[in-house]
Amino acid sequence: MKKGLTESEIQTCLDQCIQIRKNAYAKYSGFSVGALVIDEAGREFAGVNVENASYGLTVCAERNAISAAVAGGMKRIRVLCALADTPVPVVPCGACRQVIAEFSDKDTILILANTKRDYKILSPEDLMPLPFALGSETAG
Ligand code: THU
Repeated sequence: MKKGLTESEIQTCLDQCIQIRKNAYAKYSGFSVGALVIDEAGREFAGVNVENASYGLTVCAERNAISAAVAGGMKRIRVLCALADTPVPVVPCGACRQVIAEFSDKDTILILANTKRDYKILSPEDLMPLPFALGSETAG
């Protein structure tokens, strides 16, 4: 058991992300990313990075998976797995960290992985210690 997930559950997430990643639309960067979100009810939502000829319109895999999950009724991320072909497990960009923080709680489990199946388990706090929040929730 690693932070509430069994090794077999982690391996299943990696299998799924490896498959999901095949649908990435990364024709400009060539850098394909797959993401999987699992909600409190065990529902699963896939995301890939979707690039555009107007480069700035690109949306990362993590945010696309979260958007699909929100549209499907997810309130809180139970597990988010992100996977790319990187020497060490991929780390989400700053924009994705802020969006992950929006839908996470202290029990959320983040699995960062690569195609060699190396992985790291992190908490949202590990990834984004001081997310932006409005009003009284603002830490600073
Ligand atoms: N990308 C993701 O999808 N997730 C990340 O965590 C980092 C970057 C995408 C955006 C772009 O399509 C490509 O990877 C290269 O930056």
